[in-house]
Amino acid sequence: MGGTPLILAHLSDPHLPMTGGLPLRHLTLKRTLGYLNWQFRRKGAFSGTLVDRLIADIKEHEPDHVAVTGDLINLGLPEELEAATQWLNALGSGDEISVIPGNHDIYARFHRDPGVMRWRDYMLSDAFGCQLGSDITAGAFGFPFVRRLGQVALIGLNSGVPTPPFVAAGALGEAQLLGLPSVLQKLRELGLVRVVLIHHPPLARQTSRRRGLRDAEALESVLKQHGAELVLHGHNHTNTLTWLQSQSGEIPILGIASAGMASAAEGVGALGRYNLIRFTGEGERCGIEVIGRGLAEVGGPIVELDRRDLTRKDELTAAVAPE
Ligand SMILES: [Fe+2]
Ligand SMILES: [Fe+2]
Repeated sequence: MGGTPLILAHLSDPHLPMTGGLPLRHLTLKRTLGYLNWQFRRKGAFSGTLVDRLIADIKEHEPDHVAVTGDLINLGLPEELEAATQWLNALGSGDEISVIPGNHDIYARFHRDPGVMRWRDYMLSDAFGCQLGSDITAGAFGFPFVRRLGQVALIGLNSGVPTPPFVAAGALGEAQLLGLPSVLQKLRELGLVRVVLIHHPPLARQTSRRRGLRDAEALESVLKQHGAELVLHGHNHTNTLTWLQSQSGEIPILGIASAGMASAAEGVGALGRYNLIRFTGEGERCGIEVIGRGLAEVGGPIVELDRRDLTRKDELTAAVAPE
């Protein structure tokens, strides 16, 4: 494959540690249950120090761009959103980092609070994306956004919606699903490598209804018809590779562990990591190599974990969501 390779770092679900309590003014049943879950279960498993170490390792490898696929925080609180904004600002500018929200970022309804709009610099279409057409801005909340990185186009979807207690589901909604086909089609005609970012696993079979994407079947049919070269997601906190047959070939769907998972306490078994994704060539015949880096063992150093060639179907693993 010729041309200059483009390297994208992908991390997800850092669940940056909560430093304050749960303010009374934001008290709801969902947040109270979430706060108890954080205090007694998640706090011991997620580590901000590990996230910092992974970020330092990413910077050493000098990727062209970083994609963060949601669940930056835990209860969607304004204080957490502010802290995550500062974390993003320290990580890089909106030109260097792309973010999509997860269900823990858009957690419950707010009145008069900008919520994840605080991260808008990291979620806006770039000049190329804005020129692509009116469909880009037709999506709810400015999604899908499109950003061009050389021969690669990032397509950012927002699957975060407020949900009741015990529900971690997501939804794209009609506007995003209507806008996505023409975006994928136009990018294909331009010969770009289409990388879709979504927090929830895109296929219905990848997780339970309570945790899954409500309109997964509609998204699957769009992907089957219009194709994509890669889909990146988080949410399940596991490393999975699933293939979806589309009209233009098989689409690798790559799920990644939480960047903050420092112990096996949650029973998930996937320790913190990020992926360096190396794209060579253009369009549907591009080369895609994925290098995983992170913890091989609890308390260990950041090391190379695996290397996979996604240029063709070379393995098939079933995605299993933790309950
Ligand atoms: Fe998560
Ligand atoms: Fe999630």
